[in-house]
Amino acid sequence: MKAVRMHDYGGPDVLELDEVPIPEPKHDEVLVKVYATSINPIDWKIREGLRKDKFPASLPLTPGWDVSGVIEKVGNNARRFAKGDEVYGRPDPTRDGAYAEYIVVKANQLGFKPKSVDHLTAATIPLAGLTAWQGLFDRGHLQKGQKVLIHAASGGVGTFAVQFAKWKGAYVIGTASAQNIKFVKQLGADEVIDYQSQRFEEMVHDIDLVFETIGGETQDRSLQVIKEGGRLITTLAPEFKDKARERGIYMEGYTAQSYPDQLEEIAQLIDEGRIEPVISRVMNLYEVARAQQISEKGHVRGKIAIKVV
Ligand SMILES: NC(=O)c1ccc[n+]([C@@H]2O[C@H](COP(=O)([O-])OP(=O)(O)OC[C@H]3O[C@@H](n4cnc5c(N)ncnc54)[C@H](OP(=O)(O)O)[C@@H]3O)[C@@H](O)[C@H]2O)c1
Repeated sequence: MKAVRMHDYGGPDVLELDEVPIPEPKHDEVLVKVYATSINPIDWKIREGLRKDKFPASLPLTPGWDVSGVIEKVGNNARRFAKGDEVYGRPDPTRDGAYAEYIVVKANQLGFKPKSVDHLTAATIPLAGLTAWQGLFDRGHLQKGQKVLIHAASGGVGTFAVQFAKWKGAYVIGTASAQNIKFVKQLGADEVIDYQSQRFEEMVHDIDLVFETIGGETQDRSLQVIKEGGRLITTLAPEFKDKARERGIYMEGYTAQSYPDQLEEIAQLIDEGRIEPVISRVMNLYEVARAQQISEKGHVRGKIAIKVV
């Protein structure tokens, strides 16, 4: 089969399109014929060797930790699925990903794909969607009527977060650059702040939850807008925990996990037309190095989908 593999840590040129054997699933795993994958910042962070602590890789490694495809083979303890089932999920980022024609995934990291969208769209959902879901609800405890500030509201995670928070009945404030303000409002945000020309800490206050994916000074300044007893949940390292504690704010960082029940709950919302994945670009397997370069610039709107079949 064809697989894009990184043969070393470094720039996009460490990625090569190789011919490799189709992997065999173990007892708790399934073999999935990959129809599509998508780009996430973790792909190029791992490639650059920035996440060796958390995601130690054995090289060569196939990146791509979003998949949508069809079950080809099931292990003895993976009978929840059968050959031909359409599935999606976020495979384990310490193992080979889905920049390939086939992938072996633990069955407990997959859910049934939404029926109303094609594989290309489905592949843009798991990693970003689960991250938004777990950040807002599992960690952020967001409730109906609460005020949430979502940074990078136009990005992969942010576009899901805005829609999930709105679906929950929260009052949603997003940050984005001027060119994305109208777009984020269309996603459902009640207010959008242009982070390049306005200082969000001068414009909002009494926030129950800040959902943060930028880090550094954005994380620090966010503490000023949260009410006592509120939360700041970040997808990055929580850099200001002591300062947060002094202000009576709970701060936490986390790594999203792939849970079948959440994948299927999100699939249902998509099938009901309540949530719409945003794809800004479709590229092919042989273009993933270029796709990673685009992601690395930090201004993708929604997701870049990668067509495999
Ligand atoms: N912990 C986890 O499990 C986990 C999971 C997923 C992602 N992450 C991390 O979370 C971060 C976000 O991921 P992502 O997939 O959403 O990234 P992304 O799609 O690449 O984010 C791009 C978006 O960020 C916006 N942006 C850039 N700088 C900004 C700023 N200073 N303020 C507000 N918006 C800004 C851009 O909007 P404009 O073009 O309008 O500037 C763009 O739409 C990444 O660092 C990623 O590695 C962690």
